[in-house]
Amino acid sequence: MATNLLSAARILLVIGGGIAAYKSLELIRRLRERGASVSVVMTSAAQEFVTPLSAATLSGEPTRDALFSLTDEAQIGHIELSRAADLLVVAPATANLLARMAAGLADDLATTVLLATDKRTLVAPAMNVRMWAHPATRRTVARLREDGVLFVGPNAGAMACGEFGPGRMSEPEEIVAAIETALAGDTKLPSTPAIGAAGALAGRHVIVTSGPTYEPIDPVRFLGNRSSGLQGHAIAQAAVGAGARVTLVSGPVALPDPPSATVLHVGSALEMRAAVTEALPADAFVAAAAVADWRVESAAAQKLKKSPGEFPSLRLVENPDILKEVSKKGPLRPAIVIGFAAETESLVENAEKKLRDKGCDLIVANNVGAGTSAFGGLTNQVVVIDEKGAESWPSMTKVEIAERLVLRLASELAKPQ
Ligand code: C5P
Repeated sequence: MATNLLSAARILLVIGGGIAAYKSLELIRRLRERGASVSVVMTSAAQEFVTPLSAATLSGEPTRDALFSLTDEAQIGHIELSRAADLLVVAPATANLLARMAAGLADDLATTVLLATDKRTLVAPAMNVRMWAHPATRRTVARLREDGVLFVGPNAGAMACGEFGPGRMSEPEEIVAAIETALAGDTKLPSTPAIGAAGALAGRHVIVTSGPTYEPIDPVRFLGNRSSGLQGHAIAQAAVGAGARVTLVSGPVALPDPPSATVLHVGSALEMRAAVTEALPADAFVAAAAVADWRVESAAAQKLKKSPGEFPSLRLVENPDILKEVSKKGPLRPAIVIGFAAETESLVENAEKKLRDKGCDLIVANNVGAGTSAFGGLTNQVVVIDEKGAESWPSMTKVEIAERLVLRLASELAKPQ
């Protein structure tokens, strides 16, 4: 997919003011090599790190920086500048630039083109690890994600300021790959590592179930449910980001496989159970799938035919409860087992009961009643319940929930078992 997409692509690159700006010069070269055209806008802070001339030489176009530059405004206005692009890329995206984007400010050319655009924006954050971890930046990132802004990185590692952790801008090749993914219309980019989670699950095996199950009626019909798999896939991705070896057992969903996870595609609950059993042992099991409670006792081998006045009756039998089976004490029980509870009433009471019935360590309860966004939506509001009590999390994106849950999982695993 990659080369042909980039060969015709017009990228508007906004360079923010950070030490990683030098890598953006390399990014321009890589994009040009693959045939993309690159227009560059630099913030004034960026010009402290790299010169407009370097960017212009590499891009083959004048670098733009001033909102009220008469010549540029005469030749190409800022609206046209952002509209002419196929994708806007911000690299490095500093804490300040991200916050200005989230607030919708337009006080220089960079923020103005970012606000004036009707195209997608991909950002490559780069900042000190503490700035990245600060609640203000967390809010900024969550808001930008809600606005549909795509993220690549940051990576964890040694930083120019001498500290270690997430905050390093992704490498040019990683940004190029993310640009290709974004141009392909795919929003599933490698997840931004959760704060403090980088490496937190290193050496651990995590099994995640995700999506619905389809219980066959005949070769073409099935009983299913509305689960999108967004939450389970986000958990798998966040666990990968935290360094875990991840096996994702996915029911039928319209989502791409998370990069770097082993994905086992299944249809029915019986197939899901077999895949989970096959994937064990694991350090943790997260049952985010909406497994059908029942299946048709004997699915027809041929398509059921319609005949006037006749209605087939379906006899249902109970499916195995995968979560309950995995939670059973025994040598193969993962140290931490997390279940989900989708309830339409008495959320906490029902979830507490489920925690006991299933024998798992943690239940993430969400309200799936009318007017909620749990099924198919990008955000959710959950209550996390363990034997000690219930903790209500504020409404956040499923990606944020996944990252927070992975942090919780890592801290549970770190406790002496
Ligand atoms: O019992 P209920 O379906 O409400 O429980 C939900 C939790 O149990 C989810 O974590 C789901 O993944 C898991 N489950 C399962 N196997 C089933 C039914 C539910 O693993 N047959």
